Amino acid sequence: MKIPVIGVYQTKFGELWHQSLTDLILEAGRGALTDAGLAIRDIETIFVGNMLAGLTQGQEHLTSVVASVLGSSVPVVRVEAACASGGMAVHQAVLAILSGEAETALVVGAEKMTDQPAEEIAQALMAAASPEEQEAGLTFPGLYALLAQEYLRAFGATERDLAQVAVKNHHHASLNPRSHFPFPVTLNQVLASSPIADPLKLLDCSPVSDGAAAVVLASSAWVKRRAQKNGISIVGSGQASDVLGLSERRSLVELAATRQAAHKALSAAGAEAKDVSVAEVHDCFTIAEILALEDLGFYKKGEGYVVEGNGEVRLGGKRPINTSGGLKACGHPVGATGVKQIVETVWQLREAAGKRQVPHPRLALTHNVGGSGGTCVVHLLAR
Ligand code: COA
Repeated sequence: MKIPVIGVYQTKFGELWHQSLTDLILEAGRGALTDAGLAIRDIETIFVGNMLAGLTQGQEHLTSVVASVLGSSVPVVRVEAACASGGMAVHQAVLAILSGEAETALVVGAEKMTDQPAEEIAQALMAAASPEEQEAGLTFPGLYALLAQEYLRAFGATERDLAQVAVKNHHHASLNPRSHFPFPVTLNQVLASSPIADPLKLLDCSPVSDGAAAVVLASSAWVKRRAQKNGISIVGSGQASDVLGLSERRSLVELAATRQAAHKALSAAGAEAKDVSVAEVHDCFTIAEILALEDLGFYKKGEGYVVEGNGEVRLGGKRPINTSGGLKACGHPVGATGVKQIVETVWQLREAAGKRQVPHPRLALTHNVGGSGGTCVVHLLAR
């Protein structure tokens, strides 16, 4: 499988008072088209990844919003899969091109979250959890805290091990001008930050962010005909699902959907986890990155936490993870995240990531999770 990624763009992530959801979609869409050297008339289909526009903007008809702002009349599909909406939108665009339905596709992931009070956003995000979890008054920090409690109990990891994830990802974000929090934090700052849901503290959590990202995909045949630059391609795309509620899961120390989606994407790429040089994984909370390192096959179950503090997954290490700063520190505008992960890995593979550049990466992986693991999308990219 080979789907060229010919244009990418990411807006700044953060609390963007001056930009509406429409402004963000426009900036990202135009930015990716410019990067590809294309005009909107060259695009045959559009996918938009978004979770919350209905609840936060009172706007459910995003397909027409996107068509209006970008000035297109081609088919537009909105994809909603909680925090995996962006990754799922890319997956759908890949399928559209593989099927022959379209030769070029624009994918825009966008979310505007910071205009709402924190408690309204927490409640809106819980629309991605089971009815029982909602009725119990849980929040997403609460759900991931349950996973963290179980992991610490099962493998003897500590709150310091969780905190190392935040220290690393804030360090990476300090090198990324598009990140929500472009500054480093110390281990002591993480450990002393306000308790949110035991054992998770403020600095163990991804923030509530605004932002958008976009990519342009094309078929290999189209790229060849147009003599378009074709440096980087998606070479594997896997999606898997799991039951919604944590109480129905077989295990609380793994996300089974991650394992399945990774297996599908790696098989399509004819690769193994050990071949991956750089990855963007779904660290919505520090525990989530550790689970991802294990479920994606980089480390054995119960051993992922050890590498967070030893430099192996930091820039300069064996396989840097979340060079963008991850969801933790680059930010998490939920519908944009899965698309931003593709953008960051394309920059890495083009060797255009500036101060965050990993030396000569060949194969990159992105991992986007919906809810507490009910949906997972994994992509493999190569040059
Ligand atoms: N990491 C680092 N700093 C954060 C932060 C985070 N996750 N969230 C907020 N801050 C900072 C703010 O910038 C602010 O700093 P300032 O005082 O210098 O301006 C300060 O902490 C207080 O911010 P505030 O917005 O009042 O925080 P809050 O208590 O309302 O929200 C969380 C904190 C952790 C509850 C919120 O960020 C959250 O809900 N995160 C999880 C989002 C989520 O569930 N996403 C879906 C994942 S599946």
